[in-house]
Amino acid sequence: MKLLILLGPPGAGKGTQAQHLVSRFGLVQLSTGDMLRQAVKDGTEVGRKADAIMKAGQLVPDEIVTSLISEQLDKHAHAPGFIFDGYPRTQAQAVALDALLADRGMKLNHVIELTVDEDALVTRIAGRFTCARCNEGYHDTFKLPKVAGVCDICASTEFKRRPDDNAETVRARLAVYRADTAPILPYYEAKGIVSRVDGMGDIASVGAAIDAIVQDVPVSA
Ligand code: AP5
Ligand code: MG
Repeated sequence: MKLLILLGPPGAGKGTQAQHLVSRFGLVQLSTGDMLRQAVKDGTEVGRKADAIMKAGQLVPDEIVTSLISEQLDKHAHAPGFIFDGYPRTQAQAVALDALLADRGMKLNHVIELTVDEDALVTRIAGRFTCARCNEGYHDTFKLPKVAGVCDICASTEFKRRPDDNAETVRARLAVYRADTAPILPYYEAKGIVSRVDGMGDIASVGAAIDAIVQDVPVSA
């Protein structure tokens, strides 16, 4: 069982690298951002609460995201491991995750922090789009579909862009990352489980650096 957190600011490449780890190691990606966007699309009670908060680039309440993660851990009880993408984002969520895992006899193995410079983040986020059917991530410059207008994975020709990917909201998301999320790193550093990866290389070289770490992380029972 491998249990990993991908930590980094908006646009750092968490979702991109999580998808890579899914195909490389068969781990299950648990992205609270993706879960919340699905809830908004489905018009659920969680989605109705989260919609305006996400458009403003602020954080959805801790209890909501922790309960989404708890449901998914149960749903994928037989998975070979999990990648937490965009969760935890506050100290309270970090503590809650440890409790959720302990309840299920699991323990976090590793935290990978993607470091990037902020100028690159805005360029990355402004160019991002995803497949409307399978959610594969793309970029106008850095990762275009192999055949223009056709998803590499599912051949859909429909793509979408996120409503929170505008310059103003990105600035708010970055400020929230600095204020609430970056400060949780010492919690994991104290456990000796943090590795830093330079997220400024191209997608393949960042992926190779992450693979080398994931291959070597000690696994829990
Ligand atoms: P979330 O969906 O988690 O967004 P985020 O953290 O802002 O991160 P992003 O998804 O924008 O970036 P990413 O690191 O995944 O980058 P990506 O791989 O796509 O959260 C959205 C909102 O939901 C939050 O603001 C909040 O409101 C709410 N929320 C979610 N979780 C929550 C929680 N736990 N608690 C409370 N609220 C929560 O890459 C970006 C682009 O760059 C792509 O186009 C990609 O192709 C390209 N790219 C990636 N890597 C590279 C590279 N190495 N070189 C060049 N291009 C690259
Ligand atoms: Mg993401």
